[in-house]
Amino acid sequence: VSALAVAGGGGFGWAWLSSATGNVDELAFDLPLRIPPLLEGGSFDLRLQAGVSELRPGTKTGTWGVNGPHLGPTLRMRRGETVSPRVHNALPEATSVHWHGMRLPATMDGGPHQMIAPGSTWKPTWKIDQPAATLWYHPHLHGTTARHVYQGLAGLFLIDDEHAAKLPHEYGVDDIPLIIQDATFDGDGSLTLDNFGMSVVPGMDLMGFLGKEVLVNGTLGPAFTVTTTRVRLRLLNASVGRVYNVGFADDREFALVATDSGLVGEPVRLTRVLLASGERAEIVVDFRPGEQVVLRSFTAELGGGTAFDRFAGGADAFDLMKFTADGRLAESAAVPARLADVQAPVVPPNAKTRTFRLGSTSINDKKMDLARIDEVVPAGATEIWELNNPSAYHSFHIHEASFRILDVNGKAPAAYEAGRKDTVYVPPEGHVRLLVEFGRHTDPAAPYMFHCHMLVHEDKGMMGQFVIVEPGQESQVNTRLNLKN
Ligand code: C2O
Ligand code: CU
Repeated sequence: VSALAVAGGGGFGWAWLSSATGNVDELAFDLPLRIPPLLEGGSFDLRLQAGVSELRPGTKTGTWGVNGPHLGPTLRMRRGETVSPRVHNALPEATSVHWHGMRLPATMDGGPHQMIAPGSTWKPTWKIDQPAATLWYHPHLHGTTARHVYQGLAGLFLIDDEHAAKLPHEYGVDDIPLIIQDATFDGDGSLTLDNFGMSVVPGMDLMGFLGKEVLVNGTLGPAFTVTTTRVRLRLLNASVGRVYNVGFADDREFALVATDSGLVGEPVRLTRVLLASGERAEIVVDFRPGEQVVLRSFTAELGGGTAFDRFAGGADAFDLMKFTADGRLAESAAVPARLADVQAPVVPPNAKTRTFRLGSTSINDKKMDLARIDEVVPAGATEIWELNNPSAYHSFHIHEASFRILDVNGKAPAAYEAGRKDTVYVPPEGHVRLLVEFGRHTDPAAPYMFHCHMLVHEDKGMMGQFVIVEPGQESQVNTRLNLKN
């Protein structure tokens, strides 16, 4: 048994952070890990609703969920399938559902322009045309994303193909989703919501919110019973802002098999994976009969020293969940030595470079404006996006794109982030260069988003918009949108 020692910045004296230094829960890690229900097939209903959950044993917590009181089903589709969800908003306020990581037309993307009014149903449709990957879905209305995700509107969207099927893929048995979120509970059991602000301390660019407790799939102190010799874990950091440095308490190696946008070329042997908000990783772990091992978030040097680290979780170490292996385990297939055809990134000659200055409530000194197009990208372009971060942490995400990290502070990316990505951790005072491949769904009047995935930053204005147009049409774009509502 070990305490969830999520320390806050006690020295800074804000109630919402300093409170994290007291009242640390002792967790037994004996609650069965909740496994979100699996929903397959292209035509399905998603109902966004308010409910009541027992996140802490014996306490009722008001939460939001999809087809249930908290979180949403895991959607699993095959490449080539046509997806036609009916997304009904039964919540008392407007929201949206964004398919994070999906390559699709902007009007189907579920960003801030695809608002779903209370009582109404949104019916996007698209054909899945991208490699197998662990994607996810969550609300994306401008200004309320942090609160909507935090209350429980999030789920996984798995894309399968013949390559990914060679890995463990029996959902809930040897293919396990792990949605990691932090939360703080008020005395009455409700989720603490009122501190999604950073402006309390002018000049300090912080994470916006660090919860006192960490839940996996909405389970506080979870345990999972392993029945096979190998288990594939699909890790998603769905937290408002916390960064996790995930590994096992016994430092065992595991195989990293996929990053945000899909499989890596060859499995990478690792002991830690760093995940900022919005990032995913798939790992395959070996288990021996009868053993127990704890999955933890370890302290990490996040690039800014301890004074910064404490606000992202890097200075904290705490347990996430426990795995207990049965006395007899079913033999799993070996992880293939080659997973996908993924080569080292090659910068095309004449690749356009765009630079972005990351403020914590702005990008290039502009706050998000739904009526402004910030960038116009030719269809199918490969570009260098250069991120310059003068302050603390960020997690930069680009819609309808897949990228490779060229360098972080001039150095090659770490092994866990060398694969195909759609979200990248940007260290404090860091400089990151991405090689971004854009899609071909053109629409000069329907923007995609790029933004910080630390959700308070995003809500406060750290977001911009781009459109994809036919090459040569860039100068024709009207960069002021005529918004109807
Ligand atoms: Cu996970 Cu623009 O979002
Ligand atoms: Cu940010």
